[in-house]
Amino acid sequence: MTVADAPGVSTMIHAFAPGRVNLIGDHTDYTGGLCLPIALQWGTTVQGHRGGDRIVLTSTLDGATLELPLDGSRPEQVDGWGRYVAAVAHEVEPTRGFTGTITTSLPVGAGLSSSASLEVALSLAFGHSGSPMELARSAQRAEFAAVGVPCGIMDQLASVMGRAGHALLIDCRTDEVVPVAIPDGAEIRIIDPGRPRTLAGSEYAERRAACAAAEVLVGSLRDATLEAVESIPDLVLRRRARHVVTENRRVLVAARALRDADWASIGAAMFASHASLRDDFEVSTPVLDELVDTLARTPGVHGARLTGAGFGGCVVALCEPGALADGSEVIASDGARIVH
Ligand code: GLA
Repeated sequence: MTVADAPGVSTMIHAFAPGRVNLIGDHTDYTGGLCLPIALQWGTTVQGHRGGDRIVLTSTLDGATLELPLDGSRPEQVDGWGRYVAAVAHEVEPTRGFTGTITTSLPVGAGLSSSASLEVALSLAFGHSGSPMELARSAQRAEFAAVGVPCGIMDQLASVMGRAGHALLIDCRTDEVVPVAIPDGAEIRIIDPGRPRTLAGSEYAERRAACAAAEVLVGSLRDATLEAVESIPDLVLRRRARHVVTENRRVLVAARALRDADWASIGAAMFASHASLRDDFEVSTPVLDELVDTLARTPGVHGARLTGAGFGGCVVALCEPGALADGSEVIASDGARIVH
C-alpha cells in the first residue's frame, strides 16, 4: 500500500475511458472470433476523490446522485446508471470510498459503448489494479451483473487498449490485440440516425444462444467451414452461423486492406458485413438499411455498415476525406487512463 492508498488519505482522481466504434467484425467476439474496433475521442470521465467509506457519485447527464455503502449494494437494488456503479464496486472491491462526478461526451444508447466506457472509467477511479486484460474482463462481468447482457469482450477491451491512430485487430480466442495503423487518405465517420437502442431489452442474448446451438452441431464457429455451416438443418441457425464464419473472414480481409490503404477492399468488406448482419444475423433495422443504401450511392464513400450490436445504433462509414458532411469524424484515440 502506498501513502496515497492509505485509509483516511484523500486522493484526487480523474479517470477517462473512451467508447468505441467497430470498423468490422460484429457478433463474432463471443464465439472467439475477430473484430476491428477503434477507441474513440469521446468517452466517460469519472472525477473526484478517493476517501471515506461511501461511494457518492453525481451524473451530469441527469443530475442524479447515488450513494452506496462501500461494502456493496447489489446492482438489482439500484436504478439506472447506478447499477453499473454497484456492479463495478462489487468487482473492484475498493478499500476506500469515492466522491465525485460522472460526465460523458458519448451519446448514450447510440451503440458506441457508453456502458463499457462507464464501467472501465469507474473501475480505474475505484482503484482497479490488475492487468489491462483483467480490467476489461472485470468490466465485462460488471456489464452482465448490471443489466444482464451476456456481452463479449470487444467493447471493454477496445476501451482499455485503444491506441491513437490505430484500429485494434482483436482475436477473441487468444485475447491477442494487434494495433493496425490507420493510413492517411481516408476518413472514418459515424452517422447516428438518432434512434436509441438498448441491448438489455434486445435479442442479443438470443443471438448468442443461437451461435452456441450452432457450435453444438459444427464445433467452434471460428474453425467451422462454410460447407459444415451449410449442412446445419435449422435454417435460422444456419444463417446465424454463416454470418459469423463469413464475418471472421471479412475482418482479416479488412485488416490487411487497412494496412495497405486499400480503401476499396475495406469498403467492399464493410458493405458485405452490413448485408450479412441484415440478412443472416437479422440485427439491422430499416433505418440503418436505408442509411447504408444511401451511402452506397454517395460519391466518395468506400464502405458503410451498422456498427456494434445492431437493433438500432449508428452506421460507420469509410470515405474520401471531405466526401461526407453527415455525422462526425472518428479520431482513433488512446485507451482508458488515469489522467491525474
Ligand atoms: C455489443 C457487445 C459486444 C459485441 C457487439 C457485437 O457491443 O457488447 O461484446 O458482441 O455487441 O459485435
